[in-house]
Amino acid sequence: MNKPVFRRMAAVLLLLSSSLVFTGCSEGGGTRVGQSGPSHPGKAVYNDYCYSCHNPGINGAPRIGDVDEWRPRIAKGKALLLASTVNGLARMPAKGLCYSCTDEDLSQAVDYMIAQAQPFSEQ
Ligand code: HEC
Repeated sequence: MNKPVFRRMAAVLLLLSSSLVFTGCSEGGGTRVGQSGPSHPGKAVYNDYCYSCHNPGINGAPRIGDVDEWRPRIAKGKALLLASTVNGLARMPAKGLCYSCTDEDLSQAVDYMIAQAQPFSEQ
């Protein structure tokens, strides 16, 4: 095993995990970071709260990036999707379990999920 390479990888992992901690939705509505960067403003909330069900598709959760699963849901309109997120829907828990999230945080997370489900060949 090449030791310097391993050490560099460990440093990168450390950096990644600490940046996740600081971009959580426990900021309490203070200043927002990262909006001008390449990553979507809803991505941090998604990765912290929605990921656990929407990546594997637990309990029938529509999986992130699955265009076919999201098409009929997106067709309902953003307002309804946000309402299901805030209030819960069948096996989708209210607020996606992010009780510290504002409606704006949840709205951005829904935007992120919608953006991930766009077929790149169309539009
Ligand atoms: C405990 C698992 C779980 C978590 C955590 C979770 N979801 Fe879901 N979500 C579901 C399930 C299950 C459904 C499908 C519900 C149905 O159609 O009956 C769903 C559906 C949705 C839908 C589609 C709603 C509709 O009207 O069709 C949206 C939007 C959504 N989730 C957003 C989110 C967001 C945003 C988060 C994080 C803040 C989140 N979810 C976290 C399980 C989860």
